[in-house]
Amino acid sequence: MAPVRVAVLGHTAETGGAEIALMRLLEALDPRWQVTVILFSPGELESQLRQRGIAVRVLPLAQRTASRGRAQLKDPRTLLLSGRDSWGFVGRLAQLLRAEQAELVVANTLKAAVLGSLAARRARCPWVWHLHDRISADYLPAAAVPALRLLARTAHGVVANSHATARLVRLPAERVAVAYPGLPEESFAAAHQAPPTPVFGMLGRISSTKGQREFLQAAFTVAAADPSAAFHIVGQALFNDHEYAKQLEDLTSQLDLAGRVRFAGWSARPEADLDRFSALVHASPVPEPFGQVIAEAMARGVPVIATAAGGAAEILTEAPDPVPAPSPGEVLRTPLGQLVAPGDPRGLASAMRWVIDNPGDAESAAQRASASARRRFGAASAAAVCGEVWSQALAAASPRRRRGDAG
Ligand code: GLC
Repeated sequence: MAPVRVAVLGHTAETGGAEIALMRLLEALDPRWQVTVILFSPGELESQLRQRGIAVRVLPLAQRTASRGRAQLKDPRTLLLSGRDSWGFVGRLAQLLRAEQAELVVANTLKAAVLGSLAARRARCPWVWHLHDRISADYLPAAAVPALRLLARTAHGVVANSHATARLVRLPAERVAVAYPGLPEESFAAAHQAPPTPVFGMLGRISSTKGQREFLQAAFTVAAADPSAAFHIVGQALFNDHEYAKQLEDLTSQLDLAGRVRFAGWSARPEADLDRFSALVHASPVPEPFGQVIAEAMARGVPVIATAAGGAAEILTEAPDPVPAPSPGEVLRTPLGQLVAPGDPRGLASAMRWVIDNPGDAESAAQRASASARRRFGAASAAAVCGEVWSQALAAASPRRRRGDAG
């Protein structure tokens, strides 16, 4: 098939989950797709993409617009009007799309969708929204929700990272494809060996939306019951979360956990960190859109404790429909792992204690989870779903574009 030039847009060059998912996707794509990634700010992701042989362009957006967290994304219109240069940016982006001869635009983040959809329209390109975020008031400012749902209607294709994310777009099911973020082959590993004394770990960005605070509160209970238990927080604060990271260190001393909790910082080898855990704890107090680290732990046969909402619940129940969250303090055990209510340190503590008391059962669930991850989270299937949506978007847009060209 003829090669197609695709511009994938991302507003940030910090490597959060959506950016990691993107790199894995691009590596697994059919070579027919000739991708250039256009980032709206310079940074780490730029070199990471280049190292993988992926073409990158940086088109800087004013810092104050680029660095606004999703909490400031009150309304897509505000984004355009508040960043006084946003309109100018849309024009420059449209120009770049033309210069790149892009035939398809794929927006990988919310801000990229807001600005990229306008630029795509100017450049007469169809656009696809690859959604990694929940379009929902539990995740975004309420005012942004209806506007973003309207925006989704203008896309020529929508891919969501979970059924939970897909449902929130409020489009007919056939207009939203689900592609679970895929894991590369090396993520799947041989049997996990439980460490000799309990180690519970969180791995990923430090942020109030990820729940390191609830993890520490639960650690306090577990540490009192088991003097050998240790707790690792691996990862660093990105975006606007440095203040939260500082609060976590203060809380650790207040709870007298200094000798038991290890802040490991950014890790170059997250797989090795996962292998050291008795269980991975994924403590998001707000529903997680997907939760790649859960899939990564499963792929390595590491027991998982997660909060019963969004993608995390879907991953551990293997069911697209939402599960009722357990009551506070309660644990829902699925064949693949344990789920507790979001924002519930008591539930997290009892799930950790269950792992300590039932190591054999925890490891069996983890083995089942590893087989499930192999079936569901391969990079090739994610790439196939995306390729299909991209092809359909091109096909749907081409008669319109031909008419446009003729006129
Ligand atoms: C975003 C979401 C996260 C998901 C990732 C990949 O970072 O917050 O839940 O795992 O994208 O889709």
